[in-house]
Amino acid sequence: MILSKAAPYRRLFAAQSHVFTEDIVLERFIITLAYLHQVKSAASNMNKKIKFAIIGCGKVSPKHAESLKSIPSAELTAVCDKNEDRAKSFAKKYNCRHYADYNELLKKEKDADCVIVCTPHAHHAEITISSANAGKHVVTEKPMAMNLEEADKMIAACKKNNVKLFVVKQNRYNEPIKRLKDAINQGRFGKIFYGNTTVYWSRPQEYYDEDPWRGTKADGGVLMNQASHHVDMLRWLMGDVESIKATTGTLTHKIESEDTGLVILKFRNGALGTIVATTCVFPHNLEGSVTIMGTKGTVKVGGVALNKIDIWNFEDWNNDDEAIKTSQNPPNVHAFGHLEYLKEVVESIENDTPPKVDGVEGRKTLELINNIYKSAKFNKEICL
Ligand SMILES: NC(=O)c1ccc[n+]([C@@H]2O[C@H](COP(=O)([O-])OP(=O)(O)OC[C@H]3O[C@@H](n4cnc5c(N)ncnc54)[C@H](O)[C@@H]3O)[C@@H](O)[C@H]2O)c1
Repeated sequence: MILSKAAPYRRLFAAQSHVFTEDIVLERFIITLAYLHQVKSAASNMNKKIKFAIIGCGKVSPKHAESLKSIPSAELTAVCDKNEDRAKSFAKKYNCRHYADYNELLKKEKDADCVIVCTPHAHHAEITISSANAGKHVVTEKPMAMNLEEADKMIAACKKNNVKLFVVKQNRYNEPIKRLKDAINQGRFGKIFYGNTTVYWSRPQEYYDEDPWRGTKADGGVLMNQASHHVDMLRWLMGDVESIKATTGTLTHKIESEDTGLVILKFRNGALGTIVATTCVFPHNLEGSVTIMGTKGTVKVGGVALNKIDIWNFEDWNNDDEAIKTSQNPPNVHAFGHLEYLKEVVESIENDTPPKVDGVEGRKTLELINNIYKSAKFNKEICL
C-alpha cells in the first residue's frame, strides 16, 4: 500500500538524487513522505460524512431524517418533494437544500452519496433507477416496487452503475425479532411445522382519503402496504415458499384495493403457514405479530408492531430464557428500527460491504405478495 503511494514521490526525486548522498537515504525519505500522505488521507476519510438526500417528504421521511441526525458519520444534505412547500419546510427543519423535482436534485447534488426513496410505491422504481444512473447508492422504502419487472430493472441499474441497493425492512432489527431469529438459527425449535403472521390494524377511511395514493390498485392494499413487513418477516423466518392459496376482500373501506387478506402457505421445508391481515379493526391497532411453532419450541412476538415477546417456550430452557421472559419488553420500535437499519446502511457504504437487505432480498417478498394477489384474483393455488 505504502509502496504504491511512494511511486509519485520516487518520480519527483528521480532528477534530484544528487541532493542525497546515498540511494538508501533517498528511498527512506520517499517512504516517509508516502506514509505521511497515507495518514493524511486516512484522517480525511475518517472525517468524511456519508451524504444523504431524501426524496418524498411525507409521513415516513422524518424517521429517516431523525435517524440520520443521530448517526455521527451521516448527514442529510438535500430533500425533494413534488409538493414544494412540503420540501421547503422539511429542508428548513433539517437545515438542508430542497428541490421540487428529483431529477434536478440528482443533477445538482453531485456530492450526495445515497438517495432515500420515500415516495408512494408506484414511484420507487423510476426514482431508484434514475438515482443509480446518477451514481448514487439507493435506500428504498418498502415495498421496493410494485412488480418483479420493476424490481429486476432496479437491481440491474444498481449493478450496472456499481452502487448499492438497500430495501427498508426495519422490523428485522427489533430486539425480540433478533432473539427469535437466533433461536431458529440455533435449531432450538426442533422441527418447525407452522408459522403465522397476524396484522389486526386500524386505518380509518380518512387515512385513505388524506393521501389519495393509499389503497389504489397502483400502490396496493393491506398486503402490499401495511402488512408487507409482516409477510417479509414470515418468509425470512420460515424460509422459501412452495405454494400459496389466498382470498382478499375490501370489507369496510371505500378503496380500490384489498383492506383484508387471508393466505395459506406451504413452505419448501414442509411447514405450513398462514397470514391474516386487515386494516378494518375498530377502534385502534390490536396486534402485529408473528408466531413460530416447532416440535420443541413456540414463540409469539407480538405487541402492535412485532416489538414484544408474548410467548417464549422451549424444551431446552436456560437462564437466558428466564431473563428474556421476565425482562421489560422493548418500547414501540417504529423509529428505533429505522435508526438501526440506517446505521447498517452507513457502515455498508463506508466499508464497501454488501447490504444485509438488498434488492434481491426485497424482490423475494415482492414475488410472494404478487403471487398472493394472483392466487386471490384467479381463486387458485399458485406454485412458486
Ligand atoms: N418502513 C415503514 O415502517 C414505513 C412506514 C410508513 C411508510 N412507509 C413507506 O414509505 C413510503 C412513503 O410513505 P408515506 O406514508 O411517507 O407517504 P406520504 O404520502 O405521507 O408521503 C409521500 C410523499 O412523496 C411525495 N411524492 C410523491 N411522488 C413524488 C415524486 N415523484 N417526487 C417527489 N416527491 C414525490 C408526496 O408529495 C408526499 O409528500 C411508502 O413506500 C410507504 O410504504 C414505510
